[in-house]
Amino acid sequence: MTLTDTPAPREAAAELGINSLFGLHGRTAVVTGASRGIGAVLAEGLAAAHASVVLIARSAQGLEQVADRIRSAGGTALPVACDLTDRSQAAHACQEVLERTGGVDILVNNAGGPLFQAKFLDVREEGWDKVFNLNLTSVVRITQLLGHGMVERGTGSVINISSIGALQEWPEISHYCAAKAALLSLTRSLAADWAPHGVRVNAICPGWIDTDVNRAYTADPARRRATGAAAVPLGGWAPPGDVLGTTVWLASNASRFVTGAVIPLDGGSSVGMPAHLRAQLAPTA
Ligand SMILES: NC(=O)c1ccc[n+]([C@@H]2O[C@H](COP(=O)([O-])OP(=O)(O)OC[C@H]3O[C@@H](n4cnc5c(N)ncnc54)[C@H](OP(=O)(O)O)[C@@H]3O)[C@@H](O)[C@H]2O)c1
Repeated sequence: MTLTDTPAPREAAAELGINSLFGLHGRTAVVTGASRGIGAVLAEGLAAAHASVVLIARSAQGLEQVADRIRSAGGTALPVACDLTDRSQAAHACQEVLERTGGVDILVNNAGGPLFQAKFLDVREEGWDKVFNLNLTSVVRITQLLGHGMVERGTGSVINISSIGALQEWPEISHYCAAKAALLSLTRSLAADWAPHGVRVNAICPGWIDTDVNRAYTADPARRRATGAAAVPLGGWAPPGDVLGTTVWLASNASRFVTGAVIPLDGGSSVGMPAHLRAQLAPTA
């Protein structure tokens, strides 16, 4: 193709159409940690983009509530209750997913969390293992169980929800930061591994998102200000919905030439942690 063969941008956009860029018609998406917080919003948003959505988490009740909201909005949702840190539960859940859907096109590995806060010297090996199991090993597990179908079909998008903690220092959650950083390493290696098979693997690193996991900061007005408006260049705490646009983009044809990307989604806070925020995060004796 020569330059003169290249369609003008407006024609190219019309030819592709915005729906074929971002729409997820006919695709099946699995979202882990979909019973609340970021995962619930991602599941609802992917369904709104016309994907059939499988929701995974431990709380059957939480999953049912999110699935009901998706169905009331006209979408398709399949809740599958499972503790992803348990190998046999994860295997059963994935078997059910494959039997009920016939295959998965989009996998959002969102379940995770720091589980506890502790000085490094106080972290016991058992706690370290639990955090790695939830934030890394369970991702490996489910990505192997559901990803082999993507590789066989030669198409798919895996989206790993890491954290800004993987990219910068964070007092008292070294266990979580190390696990989320390992997830980024896995993302890049797997992206290279699976690119020849047409499967893309990318990661999002959220910053301060207003969910249950951060209630200790958001419930106290002074801490809320110090960690939000005063510390984030774009200002304030982000609602979970702010993670949705990047997720739909990574799931869709709009990002079909993007793999191995690590995307900070933090209002600019990874540019550096200001001293006053560092002070707020310091242990309260
Ligand atoms: N909120 C933030 O500021 C922030 C910042 C950076 C990164 N992140 C990351 O974003 C992701 C979502 O965070 P969030 O704030 O939405 O957390 P959240 O509100 O605590 O939700 C966590 C979700 O993971 C599920 N989950 C936890 N353990 C599980 C297990 N063993 N098996 C299956 N599901 C499990 C929970 O459901 P059940 O309890 O029903 O199992 C829940 O649906 C996490 O990976 C987190 O590390 C969050």
